Amino acid sequence: MIIDVPELSLVALVGISGSGKSTFARKHWKPTQVLSSDFFRGLVADDENDQSASGDAFEVLHYVAGKRLAAGRLTVVDATNLQSHARAGLVKVAREHDVLPVAIVLDVPESLAWERTQDREDRTFGRQVLTRMHRDLRRSLGQLAKEGFRKIHVLRGVDEIAAAEIRYEKLF
Ligand code: CTP
Ligand code: MG
Repeated sequence: MIIDVPELSLVALVGISGSGKSTFARKHWKPTQVLSSDFFRGLVADDENDQSASGDAFEVLHYVAGKRLAAGRLTVVDATNLQSHARAGLVKVAREHDVLPVAIVLDVPESLAWERTQDREDRTFGRQVLTRMHRDLRRSLGQLAKEGFRKIHVLRGVDEIAAAEIRYEKLF
């Protein structure tokens, strides 16, 4: 599956924990092109899992995203992006820089994500957290277009995610 992405865009990865966002980002982009919520929580709070630091972390993430977009650099946001208000911050920063916001949704079965999560030492939440995320994801699918995402690519299942190739569209 070819994923067409404008050469200059703000790409929001959307997916529950364990859906493979960070893995996908490592495969397709340079580390410096990817702004992850984990990294920014670590930066402001010394702890990538400190959810109480999310407000500050996203403030800094948005700031850096804005600087990158102002310089014409494609930027990928590696966060769950499951809440409308979280995505609104990304749409806002994209619009401020006349850049198209693009969503790439990684939609994997909750059971698979849970299996992966149990193998991870850096994730300690319970199953009910994942169930809530999965519900938020289903709701998100119907909201992305009206929130302002101009391209929405939904990759369903591990095979589609593994087969995805990014193709860059020239703007001029
Ligand atoms: N993983 C895997 N096969 C894939 C993708 C991911 O086995 N095709 C594994 C990763 O090695 C990792 C776990 O699944 O141990 C979660 O993948 P990750 O990319 O970290 O998922 P995220 O969506 O980034 O999870 P989070 O939101 O918690 O950061
Ligand atoms: Mg991740």
